[in-house]
Amino acid sequence: MPKEHNRFVCQACGAVAARWAGKCEACGEWNTLVEQAAQPRPGPGGKPATPGRRVAFVDLAADSEPAPRILSGIAELDRVLGGGFVPASAVLVGGDPGIGKSTLLLQAAAALARAGRRVLYISGEESVEQVRLRARRLGLIDSPLQLGAATNLTDIGASLEAERDAALVVIDSIQTIWVEALESAPGTVAQVRASAAELIRLAKTAGFALVLVGHVTKEGAIAGPRVLEHMVDAVLYLEGDRGHQFRILRGVKNRFGATDEIGVFEMTERGLAEVANPSALFLAERRGNIAGSAVFAGLEGTRPVLMEVQALLAPNPGGAPRRSVLGWDGARLAMLLAVLEARCGLRLAGNDVHLNIAGGLRVGEPAADLAVAAALASAAADRPTDAGMLYFGEVGLSGEVRQVAQAEARLKEGAKLGFTGATLPRRLTRANRPFAVPEGLRLREIGHLSELVGEFAEAGKR
Ligand code: TYD
Ligand code: MG
Repeated sequence: MPKEHNRFVCQACGAVAARWAGKCEACGEWNTLVEQAAQPRPGPGGKPATPGRRVAFVDLAADSEPAPRILSGIAELDRVLGGGFVPASAVLVGGDPGIGKSTLLLQAAAALARAGRRVLYISGEESVEQVRLRARRLGLIDSPLQLGAATNLTDIGASLEAERDAALVVIDSIQTIWVEALESAPGTVAQVRASAAELIRLAKTAGFALVLVGHVTKEGAIAGPRVLEHMVDAVLYLEGDRGHQFRILRGVKNRFGATDEIGVFEMTERGLAEVANPSALFLAERRGNIAGSAVFAGLEGTRPVLMEVQALLAPNPGGAPRRSVLGWDGARLAMLLAVLEARCGLRLAGNDVHLNIAGGLRVGEPAADLAVAAALASAAADRPTDAGMLYFGEVGLSGEVRQVAQAEARLKEGAKLGFTGATLPRRLTRANRPFAVPEGLRLREIGHLSELVGEFAEAGKR
């Protein structure tokens, strides 16, 4: 009989190690390894006790219906889901504590229940009375939503096993659910994984759409929804700054749709309100006449979104100059500063550089390069950018301005919001598809970043 060793499981990423260490080899987190009893081996010699059954293989080309969808009635949520919930699937909704996950799901669940579907909301964190109180505040109290407070997986399993017509089941949150058979505390990787696996199995057999709510700390540690990402069909993150009123629901994995969609919400006293026109919200507090600000026509999924890039140059008191970035990639800023310095002759090495995407948004697109460069050049020349101008384009290492996708959609969004000009990559006649330019929008096409920098320097001299 082989001796059974205990193993150590990282609570952040789920990696298994043979012995304890202060730092997880796999994800680099500290103090996350927790000892767990080894799983009993199946049968002698590691062979399963019963012989396996043969798998039935089928043709790839066989007919299958597209998954039917259950619309939550919240358009921003449905879009991120790829067109609504899919029956017999599991969705993880993650986010920082207090960001509004419970609020969003209560609203969606109540709306669906109002539309005549059977919806169960199982709260492990709050009592039924607390959920009721929130529903009352949100004006949802008349919805026929079914509430339950439970944390024991056996109880929940017994209740869901008998469910035949539930359309949606929400578990808020997966970190509170525990399995009796496991010794570890609720919220540990072992518990979260075991309860999620059982809940997902129930969803697949009973045919309801399952939503698991999971907390993530800023570091992504402790709570462990990362280990769940592999198990579920879709992963959505609700993000935002608690200091700001808007929240972004972002799809990071979706087996039934695209992952780059976002939903934009505003947190109000009456819950999360959908924001149909995010650009107007993000630009609401912009002042046109300040140097160091430029409007970027970005793309979030299929949707164009305008946002303000702000740059501030401060004289460096000595020592290494600071580069602080909020909402953009620090490495990309360093690259852009180097290009501005080496290719365009803009001296910034003696300055501290602060860069911010206003409103707490986070931009991942290289297309923002041109807007960031415009904000920096404008700050350096102490001349505001034209308030009616928007910018997009990627900048290469030699300072060349490169094409980005969906120029037409970006221009259209700008025209819709009253912009009168756009600075964009010069179109190469052969390579580019022609695109329609909205009326009233003047295009300024540039091929090299120095053209943009020169413009500000000229304006500065005048
Ligand atoms: P909640 O949904 O409980 O967050 P989570 O489930 O992600 O932990 O929302 C928490 C915050 O939202 C709370 O600080 C109060 C705020 N809030 C509002 O501003 N308006 C509302 O109508 C509700 C219900 C909450
Ligand atoms: Mg909550």
